[in-house]
Amino acid sequence: MRPLLSAAAVLLLLLLPLAAGQRFRGFSYLLDCGAPSTDSRGLRWDPDGPYVSAGSARPLSVQGLLDPTLASLRVFPYRPAAKFCYALPVDPNRRYLLRPTFFYGPSSTAPPVFDLIVDGTFWTAVDTADDILAGSASHYEAVFPARGRNLTFCLGVNPDYTDSGPFINALQVIQLHDSVYNATDFTGSAMGLIARTKFGSTGDVERYPDDSFDRYWQPFPDSKHAVSSTHNVTSADFWNLPPPDVFNTALVAEQNAPLVLQWPPISLQNGSYYVSLYFADTLANSSRTLDVNINDYQFYEGTVTSAGLSVFATQWILSGLTRVILTSKSVLPPLINAGEVFGIFPIGRLTITRDALAMESMKRSLQNIPDDWIGDPCMPHGYAWTGVTCQEGQNENIRVISLNFSSMGISGSLSPDIANLTALTDISFANNSLSGTIPDLINLGKLQRL
Ligand SMILES: *[C@@H]1O[C@H](CO)[C@@H](O)[C@H](O)[C@H]1NC(C)=O
Ligand SMILES: *[C@@H]1O[C@H](CO)[C@@H](O)[C@H](O)[C@H]1NC(C)=O
Ligand SMILES: *[C@@H]1O[C@H](CO)[C@@H](O)[C@H](O)[C@H]1NC(C)=O
Ligand SMILES: *[C@@H]1O[C@H](CO)[C@@H](O)[C@H](O)[C@H]1NC(C)=O
Ligand SMILES: *[C@@H]1O[C@H](CO)[C@@H](O)[C@H](O)[C@H]1NC(C)=O
Ligand SMILES: *[C@@H]1O[C@H](CO)[C@@H](O)[C@H](O)[C@H]1NC(C)=O
Ligand SMILES: *[C@@H]1O[C@H](CO)[C@@H](O)[C@H](O)[C@H]1NC(C)=O
Ligand SMILES: *[C@@H]1O[C@H](CO)[C@@H](O)[C@H](O)[C@H]1NC(C)=O
Repeated sequence: MRPLLSAAAVLLLLLLPLAAGQRFRGFSYLLDCGAPSTDSRGLRWDPDGPYVSAGSARPLSVQGLLDPTLASLRVFPYRPAAKFCYALPVDPNRRYLLRPTFFYGPSSTAPPVFDLIVDGTFWTAVDTADDILAGSASHYEAVFPARGRNLTFCLGVNPDYTDSGPFINALQVIQLHDSVYNATDFTGSAMGLIARTKFGSTGDVERYPDDSFDRYWQPFPDSKHAVSSTHNVTSADFWNLPPPDVFNTALVAEQNAPLVLQWPPISLQNGSYYVSLYFADTLANSSRTLDVNINDYQFYEGTVTSAGLSVFATQWILSGLTRVILTSKSVLPPLINAGEVFGIFPIGRLTITRDALAMESMKRSLQNIPDDWIGDPCMPHGYAWTGVTCQEGQNENIRVISLNFSSMGISGSLSPDIANLTALTDISFANNSLSGTIPDLINLGKLQRL
């Protein structure tokens, strides 16, 4: 799913002069990673400390940062195959926009490259090198369904990339309204943002408070075709709730000519994409009929009025560079105001609930446990908790099959719930300071070695 949203320049992310405290509905988090205290300039950013148990805070002394969240970061140790997670209480029936921000600052070595993981699903690899050269922060954005009462967002140490630990500057997790992107089936999929564009805009990124979920609408200047208007579109009628202002700029073709866009502006890997386009006639009481083709397939044909229109496809196959061609079927030339493209990817399987609950119970009764015992105990592949081995065959349930805690310096007592791990074949607790009675393991019929 790389590359995602390319960075907004650090200097473009202006401090918004907002009234005190933003109002996002439901569970929403704006975490300023590594920050000692709440920052109430602009959006209210809280320290990430209460939601993460690993890593250490580090200030970043770079002059002229306009985005206050870049002034600190949280850095995690380099421990191959470890995942370091934020656990955030959420509503299990909703979906969430996640936007982590990364800015390593000036450095003589290449910035670390690492994986992002959400609730046991591999999302993408983070590589900030190009943005750093451009002096920019890197933003990634995705929409994930909640899969339990906590959403876990993790940074995974992948030794295939670099030999330094991951880092993060800011994390936004914002609950979306039920109708937003609701044509996508989130029971088996998540979406990673490729581009969200306000065509014809030369101004700043459009975001909160115009966009009630702080989605970033990037400008797409084109002096030849840009037009603007001041009339009001009632965007509350659109399922995706775009901000009304995205309809106030547009690209319009010249008379008797098609409008040809290469958009999104990056080459895509072959896959299935969610594409949503937004239109509103910029002339009052006007309408025009147009035909939209994406890579030579008809995407839409119909009439756009000043009341506005949004059209979307949930499974559009794209690969390489994308060409959007709008042609007119009426007197007025075609126009377009805004668009979004997301890559669709499957969400991964999780450890069976019984095993996951048993591991959580064991974790609660032990002390001095490894700091990567958080999130799913087995998934994604290669990121099981330290000391835990799993069976994760194609058509099998994902089960914990071995526990090897030898010489980890763990103390505390073993929870009797260990007996619920009925697929266990190996246990080793050698050289730890465990106290209390060894629980009844009579149920563990498969146990071969203790
Ligand atoms: C859920 O997250 C909160 C806050 O990070 C944490 O205190 C709590 O232990 C988590 N619950 C589980 C089951 O992980
Ligand atoms: C999406 O949300 C809208 C507005 O709430 C609703 O009318 C529509 O039926 C929903 N569509 C799907 C596919 O759930
Ligand atoms: C658009 O709406 C805003 C706020 O509702 C209002 O102040 C403005 O006058 C409206 N503009 C037009 C052209 O109707
Ligand atoms: C692209 O992926 C689709 C399925 O997502 C597949 O049917 C098609 O053959 C692929 N095309 C290429 C050129 O790989
Ligand atoms: C647009 O139509 C409305 C009613 O249909 C009318 O009141 C208004 O004056 C019209 N505006 C223009 C600029 O023609
Ligand atoms: C372990 O299994 C027993 C019996 O099925 C159940 O009552 C208990 O809640 C389970 N423990 C956990 C932590 O899920
Ligand atoms: C358990 O882990 C230790 C230390 O990582 C290792 O030396 C030992 O071989 C492992 N035991 C088993 C049975 O895998
Ligand atoms: C026991 O574990 C500690 C770390 O907790 C380690 O330093 C020590 O070498 C281990 N001893 C043996 C005999 O493995």
